[in-house]
Amino acid sequence: MPSFLSESKVADFQRDGVLVLPDFKSKAECAALLQRAHELVDGFAPSDFPTVFSGTDQTHARDAYFLESGGEIRFFLETDALGPDGKLVRDKHGAVNKIGHALHDRDPLFSGFSRDARLAALAADLGVVQPLLLQSMLIFKSAHIGGEVSCHQDATYLYTEPSSVLGLWFALEDATLENGCMWALRGGHRGGLKSRFLRGSAGMQTQILDEVPWPAFPDGGDYIPLVAPAGSLVVLHGLLPHLSGPNRSSKSRAAYTLHLIDGVTHYPASNWLQRAANDPVRGF
Ligand code: FE2
Repeated sequence: MPSFLSESKVADFQRDGVLVLPDFKSKAECAALLQRAHELVDGFAPSDFPTVFSGTDQTHARDAYFLESGGEIRFFLETDALGPDGKLVRDKHGAVNKIGHALHDRDPLFSGFSRDARLAALAADLGVVQPLLLQSMLIFKSAHIGGEVSCHQDATYLYTEPSSVLGLWFALEDATLENGCMWALRGGHRGGLKSRFLRGSAGMQTQILDEVPWPAFPDGGDYIPLVAPAGSLVVLHGLLPHLSGPNRSSKSRAAYTLHLIDGVTHYPASNWLQRAANDPVRGF
C-alpha cells in the first residue's frame, strides 16, 4: 500500500512519467526559500565566477567551477547576463540563472525544505529503496531574461545502473504558459535513455545512445504543459523528456529542484557530479 500517494496517483505516474501535486508546500515556505536564495545571491561576487550556464549548449561543462559544484553552493549566470566586456548588464539578482548543486546539504533552510518526511514516503511509494538526495538547484527563470532549457532526460546527467533518478520540482512562484512553465512528453519515460553526459579523457562529452530525435515540439508528440501554481510539487521520472521555453514575460518563475537516486543502484565515476569521499550523499 502506498503511504503518501494514492494507488491511482502511483498508476498515473507509471503511465505518464509525471505528477503535478498542487499545494504541497505553503506559499510562506516557498517565499521563505526564495528569500533565502536571494540572500545567497547577495553574497555572490559575479566578477569572480563569470560562468554562463546555457541550457542549449554544453560549453559550461568544461569549467571546473561547474564540475566541482556537486557538494557546493555555486552560482550560474544567464547567457544574456554578460556584456562584451564580461561585466553584468543587469542587477545580479536578475542575472543568475541558477544556484547549485548541494543547497540541500549546505544550507539549513534548504535542508529542512528537502528533508520532508512526505517526500521520503512518496519516494518509497514510487519504488525507491534507499533514497539519496543527490542534487539540488534553485532556478530563478527571471522575468524577461530567463533562458530556455532544451528537451532532455534527467538521467542523461544523473545516471545510475539501472536508472533510478527521480526529480522533485517545487514551484516557488506560479509557473504558467506565459512565464516558461515546463512541458513534458507524456509517457516518454518508457522509451529509454537517449544520451549520457559523462567525464572523458578530454573533458565532458555526450554519448549518444539513441539517434532518433525527440518528436517536434509542441505538436509532434504528446507534449503537455506542466502549469503549476506556487506550492505545487511536480514529480518527474528520470527518463521523462521535458523542457521549458524562455521567460519573456514580466513575471519570474522561480523553482527549486531536488533529484534523488536509489542507493541500491550503481553510480558510475564517469558521472559529472561527484562528491568528496568525506562528504557522501545522504538520504532524508
Ligand atoms: Fe530536467
